[in-house]
Amino acid sequence: MKFFIDTADVAEIRELAATGLVDGITTNPSLVAKTGRDFLEVVAEICDIVPGPVSAEVTATDHETMLTEGRKLAAIASNVAVKVPLTPDGLKTCKVLSDAGTEVNVTLCFSAAQALLAAKAGATYISPFVGRLDDIGIDGLELISEIVEIYDAYASIDTQVLVASVRGPLHVIEAAKMGAHVATIPPGVLKAMFNHPLTDKGLNAFLADWAKTGQSIL
Ligand code: E4P
Repeated sequence: MKFFIDTADVAEIRELAATGLVDGITTNPSLVAKTGRDFLEVVAEICDIVPGPVSAEVTATDHETMLTEGRKLAAIASNVAVKVPLTPDGLKTCKVLSDAGTEVNVTLCFSAAQALLAAKAGATYISPFVGRLDDIGIDGLELISEIVEIYDAYASIDTQVLVASVRGPLHVIEAAKMGAHVATIPPGVLKAMFNHPLTDKGLNAFLADWAKTGQSIL
């Protein structure tokens, strides 16, 4: 499973990219707004830090303007994946951009029917939002399972399932068991994935015993 980080915060990206565990980045207009910075500058900076795909979202809602925005975003760097919403105009834009060789991430997916349409439109990634479905009492992970099953049934579909709106490590683990290709993980959740009390306890005991030996490796 590939790990993308769901943030537009360059300092956080630098810190996490240094772990060597980050395969890509996803941003959205809300995440960009949080930074208070210029969108195009932020995207360029992130693309320099992370060699993998960096999703940058269009903000127009009509096809022509989305296409112009998408082309402008794609021109920032070769690793930009243009993000478009799952609307008829968004999918029309997806088709044109993906036919031209640009990676496209179709976002705001909440149903298997939408995921099927995105695959037909040539999406590189489909982003089903698990957390937002959970929030309204619908099992978000069940949607991941459905989409993985459908995509797996057709050799001609190469759209990757990108699990979005991740709220905790369990979303990542369960989606990985289902064979989802990518999870886009908020920085806090990725950090939480490192933690286990038995790791801390075990390490403290090893270090205490090592100290008793009076030895040093270096
Ligand atoms: C995906 O690309 C989105 O940026 C993101 O996962 C949305 O998550 P949220 O529901 O936590 O805002």
